[in-house]
Amino acid sequence: MKPLSFPLLAAAHAFLGLVAAQSLPAFPSAQLDISSVFNNQAASEDGSSGDFDGLGGTFVASLLPPGTWEYQGIKYAFPATWGKGEDNVIANGQTVKLPNETYVTELHIVYSGDGPDSDFSANFTINYKDDSTTILPLTGLEWFQFPEMNWGTIPTRYHHVNYSSAINWNVSSLYQLSIGIPSQSPLENITFPETADATDRVHIFALSYTPAVVPTTAKPTGPELAVKSVEFSTRWEQVGSSRAQTVAVALANLLPAKYATAGNASTNATVNEAYTVEVSGGGVTTVAPGVFYRLVPTDQVNLDVLVTGGDNGQTATVTVKNAAGAVVGTSAGWPVTPLRTSWTPEVDALTTHETPTWWRKAKYGIFIHWGLYSVPAYGHNSYAEWYDWALHNPNSSQSPTWVHHKEVYGENVVYDDFIANFTAGLWSPTEWLQLIEDAGAKYFVQVTKHHDGYALFDTGNTSHRSSVYLGPKRDFVKELFDAAKAGFPELHRGTYFSLPEWFNPFYAPYGFESWPGGLAHNAYNWSEIEPYTGLINVTDFITDLQFPQMLSLAQNYDTEIMWCDIGGPNMTLEFAAAYYNHAWENGYQVTMNDRCGNVPDYSTPEYTVFGSLQTTSWETNEGMDPDSYGINNQTTPDEYKNGTTIVQTLVDVVSKNGNYLLDVGPTAEGVIIPAMADNLRDAGRWLSYSGACVYNTSYWPQAQQSPDGSVRFLTTPTTFCIVAFDKPSGTLTVDAGGAVLPVLQGDEVRLLGPSGNGTALRWSVGEGGVMSVEVDAGEVDEVEYAWAFEVRYAVANGTSSEAVASGVAVDVGAEAGYPAEVGHVAQQVLSAGQSI
Ligand SMILES: *[C@@H]1O[C@H](CO)[C@@H](O)[C@H](O)[C@H]1NC(C)=O
Ligand SMILES: *[C@@H]1O[C@H](CO)[C@@H](O)[C@H](O)[C@H]1NC(C)=O
Ligand SMILES: *[C@@H]1O[C@H](CO)[C@@H](O)[C@H](O)[C@H]1NC(C)=O
Ligand SMILES: *[C@@H]1O[C@H](CO)[C@@H](O)[C@H](O)[C@H]1NC(C)=O
Ligand SMILES: *[C@@H]1O[C@H](CO)[C@@H](O)[C@H](O)[C@H]1NC(C)=O
Ligand SMILES: *[C@@H]1O[C@H](CO)[C@@H](O)[C@H](O)[C@H]1NC(C)=O
Ligand SMILES: *[C@@H]1O[C@H](CO)[C@@H](O)[C@H](O)[C@H]1NC(C)=O
Ligand SMILES: *[C@@H]1O[C@H](CO)[C@@H](O)[C@H](O)[C@H]1NC(C)=O
Ligand SMILES: *[C@@H]1O[C@H](CO)[C@@H](O)[C@H](O)[C@H]1NC(C)=O
Ligand SMILES: *[C@@H]1O[C@H](CO)[C@@H](O)[C@H](O)[C@H]1NC(C)=O
Ligand SMILES: *[C@@H]1O[C@H](CO)[C@@H](O)[C@H](O)[C@H]1NC(C)=O
Ligand SMILES: *[C@@H]1O[C@H](CO)[C@@H](O)[C@H](O)[C@H]1NC(C)=O
Repeated sequence: MKPLSFPLLAAAHAFLGLVAAQSLPAFPSAQLDISSVFNNQAASEDGSSGDFDGLGGTFVASLLPPGTWEYQGIKYAFPATWGKGEDNVIANGQTVKLPNETYVTELHIVYSGDGPDSDFSANFTINYKDDSTTILPLTGLEWFQFPEMNWGTIPTRYHHVNYSSAINWNVSSLYQLSIGIPSQSPLENITFPETADATDRVHIFALSYTPAVVPTTAKPTGPELAVKSVEFSTRWEQVGSSRAQTVAVALANLLPAKYATAGNASTNATVNEAYTVEVSGGGVTTVAPGVFYRLVPTDQVNLDVLVTGGDNGQTATVTVKNAAGAVVGTSAGWPVTPLRTSWTPEVDALTTHETPTWWRKAKYGIFIHWGLYSVPAYGHNSYAEWYDWALHNPNSSQSPTWVHHKEVYGENVVYDDFIANFTAGLWSPTEWLQLIEDAGAKYFVQVTKHHDGYALFDTGNTSHRSSVYLGPKRDFVKELFDAAKAGFPELHRGTYFSLPEWFNPFYAPYGFESWPGGLAHNAYNWSEIEPYTGLINVTDFITDLQFPQMLSLAQNYDTEIMWCDIGGPNMTLEFAAAYYNHAWENGYQVTMNDRCGNVPDYSTPEYTVFGSLQTTSWETNEGMDPDSYGINNQTTPDEYKNGTTIVQTLVDVVSKNGNYLLDVGPTAEGVIIPAMADNLRDAGRWLSYSGACVYNTSYWPQAQQSPDGSVRFLTTPTTFCIVAFDKPSGTLTVDAGGAVLPVLQGDEVRLLGPSGNGTALRWSVGEGGVMSVEVDAGEVDEVEYAWAFEVRYAVANGTSSEAVASGVAVDVGAEAGYPAEVGHVAQQVLSAGQSI
């Protein structure tokens, strides 16, 4: 494939354009003054004033940004000085009014929860001039959480506690959230959620909104495009011989919803042809433009533009062109940050690192908890991989594990006696990998060392507490990774690694909470100390064991995902720099979760799904087992997650911009039991024909699900997906809660099914923008678990005959790393132009 020449193409056709080029307006954000309802002081410099959580805890004033703060194109009003008085609202049914006659397409909230758990739910009520209302359900995050880092939109390294300068060292955050709202009528006022639980309150620090652009003419003469944000990322794609930087561009059509004539393509309000987006200036050259095909009033689109070059400190311009190659508009002044090619152990640099594009597209991974705990395979409705801890805590009949161990193995068997029975006698790495592939997962994360300190990889001279030196004397991580590289190269390979070890004597100086370090006492004879088989004397746990083991996973095993657990004392800045440099030098892209103690790429809710959109990267992780990651023999086959649960959880997570990491616990022999394997394959079968509505998709900014929760929405550049969780019969009703569905006359709606693409179904959009699809009972019957209806955009034909004639610019999507289908449609659009 020749290098792309889109700029040439555009130049050749600029004269064909019918649209007068203009400067695109700055994306508007207005700050609503909510200080009249302030009722709380969250920030304090020394902890002596203020009380955020009702327990005397406060954010550190100097760690919060004062005055006007801008994030992803939106400006917020914060106090000019934090810590000098009330600075937020504890939401409790207050109402704030908007200025007269304001059509609003999006709300932007800076909030934080003060509860002790992982998240909270709250409903905002939006009241319109026409007396209609919208309930906006929000699942928000708490200011800090252990062991996840809750590295929010505004992370602070610690907070004060107890009305004093005493410190809680957990990262403590404010969060930003943008929510699309209906704009059929001007917005009158917003009512904040009621506080139901006095120990779990929602604090609102700032509220901004995007006013729609109301045309001055009776009918719009075109969409009102605006560039919302332009972010030069740390992601890259190979384009020809160069590594092109990914620039994330967000664009909006700011017309209010009332100009979207339901389902009608003949209006001027909507983009309905191939629009390309390029970035130039400041030394930047676009090598693959972003392409979008549809943008209805109020909607937004997130695109990746691939560029080379770029000079630090310069600014770049975004140029949007129509299908004829004519410039529709430009937007200037975006700061350039060239692609980072080397890393140093500095927080400011490392926090810019992001999840790679492959991770964002993959959506679904399999987690594997396998270790000594797989031998006893026991937990009393609790994590079986915590066997060693539960055996000792408490060391009495209060602990079901203590009782179970005594009954099954007797008082003389210690945890390390399981080493001999961790045989992997029936293990076939290829069988595991085949199952992962059949399941439809795109990556896996193998536990390489859990809190018990027993590793499944070569720990070299740091420790011999490893399967390489003990028991089977095999390097399971290497065997699995080698088998994957050889037979399943498309699967991305990740590693779980526990930073602390419960009972390692060298961890004692660093110990905390349930990771105290120090040798275990015998659970039945406390005066006896248990062995810690394989221990090698080291001077310092962090520098001589933890850090070199992590480096080994990066440099000797080429792990693509460093999935740490527990955090705590760490050398993660040094690790991350070395890890990212190794990946860059070897031509691949890697990522690190939020439990490595520093600089996370993504957050990891455990046995929890965020109920609302989070625009930063996140991944739900949980077991097939209702209560465990490691295999638990107490669990009956019917209790494991079934096809319905797996598919619907995955789609739900993906609709809110998350990934799903679903865990299996193999037996000590290395077998993934049928109760888990069969259900994974069931879900995989669904993905084999519905995957177009899961992999490579993006969330829909306007709504992620219907108000009743029965359908989820997802987008690709050329399609809009409606995934129904209840088996439809007769007519499927698609209610987006007042948001404008991006469907137009001529679009085809089909059910994705096992015998290929379904027939084009009859559909219509009625009052209130609610869509009806007449489903085919026969096709519906062929599908299980969830019903993915794909709306394929009928894209207006463009003009590019010369480009097609000279053979350039076709298949741009595939070349640039876009889903192949994008390239396919780009090609169609270009070919079709020949008739002009
Ligand atoms: C709002 O509009 C009403 C009538 O539409 C008018 O009476 C009122 O003065 C306006 N208020 C402001 C602040 O513009
Ligand atoms: C939010 O509103 C929905 C109904 O729209 C209700 O089912 C839910 O319980 C409410 N949640 C809270 C936290 O009030
Ligand atoms: C909020 O707006 C609604 C709809 O216009 C109106 O009925 C209600 O009285 C307003 N509430 C307040 C507190 O202003
Ligand atoms: C809180 O501070 C007070 C006085 O400074 C002290 O007596 C008390 O022990 C502290 N409480 C906690 C839980 O640290
Ligand atoms: C679209 O705008 C053009 C003028 O730019 C006008 O002639 C045409 O009637 C408009 N179409 C509709 C459906 O409003
Ligand atoms: C767990 O159950 C399997 C059968 O499902 C059995 O073969 C195995 O011995 C059991 N293991 C333990 C530790 O009970
Ligand atoms: C190890 O396996 C043997 C043979 O199955 C069994 O008798 C013994 O109880 C097991 N011991 C441990 C500690 O798992
Ligand atoms: C480890 O250190 C301890 C105490 O310093 C010492 O008694 C022991 O012999 C050392 N073990 C090895 C294998 O060097
Ligand atoms: C990780 O280590 C850094 C020092 O390098 C420290 O500041 C940070 O608090 C540690 N993280 C945790 C969660 O303890
Ligand atoms: C799948 O599991 C869910 C949740 O446990 C349950 O409600 C549903 O009935 C199960 N479906 C089948 C077909 O067993
Ligand atoms: C379904 O449609 C897509 C896009 O038109 C096409 O690439 C694919 O081959 C079709 N699949 C089947 C099984 O017909
Ligand atoms: C372009 O128009 C032709 C003729 O109407 C049609 O066959 C083709 O599918 C259209 N192409 C696209 C991408 O819509």
